[in-house]
Amino acid sequence: MRICIIGTGYVGLCTGVGFADKGNKVTCVDVVSEKVDKINNGQAPIYEPGLGEKLMEALGNGSIRATTDLKEAIAETELCFISVPTPCKDDGSIELKYIRTVAESVGSVLKDLDRYYVVVVKSTVVPGTTEDVVLPLIEQASGKKVGDGFGLCMNPEFLREGYALNDFLNPDRIVIGEIEGRAGDVVREAYEGFENVPIMRTAIKTAEMIKYTANSLLATKISFSNEIGNICKRLGINVYDVMKGVGLDSRISGKFLRAGCGFGGSCFPKDVAAIVARARVAGIDPGLLQQVLDTNREQRGLMAEQLKARMPSLENRRVAILGLAFNPNTDDIRESPAIEIVGKLTKEGASVAAYDPRAMENMKKVFPDVEYAGDAKQALSGADACLIVTDWDEFKELSDEDFALMKGDVIIEGRKTLKPERVKKFEGICW
Ligand code: NAD
Ligand code: UGA
Repeated sequence: MRICIIGTGYVGLCTGVGFADKGNKVTCVDVVSEKVDKINNGQAPIYEPGLGEKLMEALGNGSIRATTDLKEAIAETELCFISVPTPCKDDGSIELKYIRTVAESVGSVLKDLDRYYVVVVKSTVVPGTTEDVVLPLIEQASGKKVGDGFGLCMNPEFLREGYALNDFLNPDRIVIGEIEGRAGDVVREAYEGFENVPIMRTAIKTAEMIKYTANSLLATKISFSNEIGNICKRLGINVYDVMKGVGLDSRISGKFLRAGCGFGGSCFPKDVAAIVARARVAGIDPGLLQQVLDTNREQRGLMAEQLKARMPSLENRRVAILGLAFNPNTDDIRESPAIEIVGKLTKEGASVAAYDPRAMENMKKVFPDVEYAGDAKQALSGADACLIVTDWDEFKELSDEDFALMKGDVIIEGRKTLKPERVKKFEGICW
């Protein structure tokens, strides 16, 4: 099929490259011309494992291209997936300005298109957004009616950063929210190459709510695990052994029960906040979901507190921070626990030596004055303490020999990365 992707960030680019890999012809659109140029030159503007290689392959066989020209992109395709940001505002509610702009632009292009075209919202949007915000904007700008001149669907994306391309290509399910079957059929056809994947076709609002419910439940599992972890630590029990035993119950599953320094990323924090805010407007006070966020906020501050308990004055102390990204295998630092930790430590007068295999360029924009080391050993050299914040594979290889480079011996682990057989003495945040 001929597919247009609007917004070439983590979701858009991985979706575009993924659809191209499945044999479709993809046109990616972005407002940032530097990103478009990079994509056309075979350089992915973001880091995701395998993305660069698959992009080169797709460019090589002519199955993908990028442009800033939306009109041209719509003219050469049958459907478009909107994957622009939906961040949260200060009060937690969803910011829809990017979605609105795209809906208006798409509508204006559809005005002059003399054939049926399907618009698909892939961005995460609170229930009601596609039908109550996107639909009227497209109808107004195009002068056409949904179901007649154009079709409208909502197709939530469930990929994780750090595993994005693989997750997109091998989803657990595909959810298609639709108003009429004709548009849903077009989206279904776009996923033709995805074999043995359950496909759920449903109402648009239901599709929107499935996305928030999945993210809220995963975030709840993490905050729950962190709370249990904090109790376990106080009682001298290893929470990872506990969760292993708990996760063997097939009703529960062992996934997303890893206790640690809290969830970050551009999704769980903002999506749980957005559904809490939407529920409040609807007159419901979602106490459980609010607590998931509060527990996470406290957990993200815990490592700095544990360090202060060991080292009451951080003035001029060198602290190595290993891992800045919110997840391994990504360069994304949005809402990463590392931001809060580095901020707290520098405020207390510590001199931070940070290292991350991929995320240092992004972190330099937030903390330009922190020392960025060339590798983990350089960060550890002469350090009074070390905090491990992201579970990159390369940190699993660290051993006593590497930590001997430190001046002090305080090592606090936020992600259960170090191997006890390689490193004798360290403290887990909640184990
Ligand atoms: P992102 O910030 O990485 O990328 C968004 C892209 O959209 C940017 O390249 C930006 O330049 C572009 N853009 C903004 N306005 C535009 C416009 N008018 N026309 C064309 N391009 C425009 O965002 P992301 O992380 O890919 O997230 C996109 C959406 O997908 C969000 O709603 C998010 O909640 C959802 N989502 C994200 C993930 C994830 O893991 N990141 C997973 C599932 C769903
Ligand atoms: C999450 C969901 O997993 C995706 O399904 C969803 O599509 C995405 O949000 C989204 O809506 O954008 P993502 O945030 O990219 O994906 O990455 P995750 O692997 O879920 O990790 C999120 C955070 O939770 C990380 O900081 C990670 O360290 C933390 N986490 C994860 C834990 O603390 N414990 C766990 O057991 C799992």
